[in-house]
Amino acid sequence: MATTICQDIDWVGYVDWTVRDFHGYRTEHGSTYNSYLIRDEKTALIDTVKADYSAEFLANVAALTPLEKVDFIVCNHAEPDHAGSLPVVMKACANATLVCDAKCRDALGRYHDTSDWTFRIVADGETLSLGKRTLQFFETPMVHWPESMATYMPEEKLLFSMDGFGQHYASSSRFDDEVDLTEVMAEAKTYYANILMLYGAPIKRTLAKLAPLPIEMIAPSHGVVWRSHVAEIVAAYNDWVDLKCRPKVVVIYDTMWKSTARMAWEIYQGAVDAGAEAKIFSIRATNITVLAAEILDAGAVAFGSATLNNTILPAAAAGMTYLKGLKPAGKAAVAFGSYGWATAAGKELTAYIEAMRMKIIREPVMCRFRPGKDALDECRSAGEALAAKAIELAGRE
Ligand code: FEO
Repeated sequence: MATTICQDIDWVGYVDWTVRDFHGYRTEHGSTYNSYLIRDEKTALIDTVKADYSAEFLANVAALTPLEKVDFIVCNHAEPDHAGSLPVVMKACANATLVCDAKCRDALGRYHDTSDWTFRIVADGETLSLGKRTLQFFETPMVHWPESMATYMPEEKLLFSMDGFGQHYASSSRFDDEVDLTEVMAEAKTYYANILMLYGAPIKRTLAKLAPLPIEMIAPSHGVVWRSHVAEIVAAYNDWVDLKCRPKVVVIYDTMWKSTARMAWEIYQGAVDAGAEAKIFSIRATNITVLAAEILDAGAVAFGSATLNNTILPAAAAGMTYLKGLKPAGKAAVAFGSYGWATAAGKELTAYIEAMRMKIIREPVMCRFRPGKDALDECRSAGEALAAKAIELAGRE
């Protein structure tokens, strides 16, 4: 596998072809933990890998340079998928100074025994010369954690962007123009939806802060390096931070004896007939990772669950809890479901939707046991209303 990013800069990370669960995120295409080795007058590593792959990582570095020649290890982010191997790596690279910001040093000290590590703490905008090339550090809080940082190399117009612009996408290739672009853009969208959607406001500030930098290549910490489609991925991020939507309605439900499913299909059909793009998902049959990505660019969502034991169904509860954390704010929403003698699902779904900061456009559509004509008419009307709202929201953008 070719590893050269540009002259004197090589990829030395780990391609995780088999990972399918990344703290609950369904990584259907695996992932990579990217690290970059810069060989200049000084030698620097940008980030490391998961602890499990320390040996493979050190072998990649040692194949290109003696480990004792590594002068700096830049830690842009303390999360263990990028910094978990640091205890092993700092020991192996005995002459290395760990370069990070103050918040990252604090976080690393809470994960690892850092008492014998040499640190260089850098401030926002500070530079570090490697000889012919320079590293400039930019704080990028909440992309993905408070201590997150990006590293820029002006001589190569290269941004090491950490989690930002990343994709959980294993590949034998290292660049965006060597893989299926549709597939990699879909993974970038899924990554944003599931990892970063909650942090749209700080990410928007980071995009504005980094916008003046001339950038020809973006090297994230997961997935492929952007060199031919930089403008596309930056434009996509500018849309995602604003939760820009398509005229699209997503219907998500869980059902007990198919009554809520019947209602879901009627809402879906109402949305289709009203001219929206519509999708329908059983929350029990679909991984929530997929649903988060579908919601990211939807204008409106219907959430349904039958009432079971005076609450919502377990798969619905798990999914709603996850989405509550991601906060797809501003999108239109409706709750619906069937019940026997207690209407708990409507109230609970409404509480989740409010916590997501979505806009409820009508009271929950509820029916007792089987939906009859009146209930189905109400579902159809809710689908039409959601479609109208999605079309309106998409047209505004
Ligand atoms: Fe890929 Fe936030 O770590």
